[in-house]
Amino acid sequence: MLLSRLSRVGLGASRILSRGRCIPSCRTVSVPRSYGHYLQPQLQSHQGKLYVAFVFQRHHYFSTEGSSGESSNGSQEKQSISVTFVDKDGEEKQIKVPVGMSMLEAAHEHDIELEGACEGSLACSTCHVIVMDVDYYNKLEDPTDEENDMLDLAFGLTETSRLGCQVIASPELDGVRLAIPAATRNFAVDGFVPKPH
Ligand code: FES
Repeated sequence: MLLSRLSRVGLGASRILSRGRCIPSCRTVSVPRSYGHYLQPQLQSHQGKLYVAFVFQRHHYFSTEGSSGESSNGSQEKQSISVTFVDKDGEEKQIKVPVGMSMLEAAHEHDIELEGACEGSLACSTCHVIVMDVDYYNKLEDPTDEENDMLDLAFGLTETSRLGCQVIASPELDGVRLAIPAATRNFAVDGFVPKPH
C-alpha cells in the first residue's frame, strides 16, 4: 500500500514536472515526512531521473522553507514594535511589544491601566482602546462579530474603537497610538444581559 501511494506521488510529480511548474506545484504534492526515508532509496534505484528531480525539489522546498522559516521566525521572535498608550489624562507611555502579543497583554506587562476583566475571552468591553490614527486602524484585521457585539457595550465607542485583547502586534502596526477611554463598562462580566433593541 505504501508503495502504491508512493507511486501515486511519483505520478503526481511526473505530471508537475512535465508542466514545468516545479516549485509551486511541489507545494501541492504532499509527501508525509515519514515517507522521506522510503522515497530517497526509491528515487535513486528505481525511478531515476523523475524521482531525483522530485526529491531535489522537495529538498529544495523544505530547505528553503526551513532556512527562511527559521530566520523569519527567529527575527519574528526578536521583532517588536513600538506602541504608545495614551491614558485618560493624556499621559503617554511608549512601550515595545513583541510581534504576536495582544495589546492587552502588552499593557499589563508594562503596568498600563487597561482593564481586561474577561482576560481576553471576548466577554467584556473593558479592554476598549481607541486607535488614534485611522491609517493604523485600517491596517487591522476586521473585528469579528463577537468583538463587535462587545464593542457595542463599550463606553465612548468611536469609529476606530477596538478591543485591546483582539489587537495583535504586527510589523505594520509599528508606531501605533492607542488611547485608553476615560471609563469602561463591565456589563458582560458582571452578568448584565442587555435587552434586545
Ligand atoms: Fe474582555 Fe478583551 S478583556 S474582551
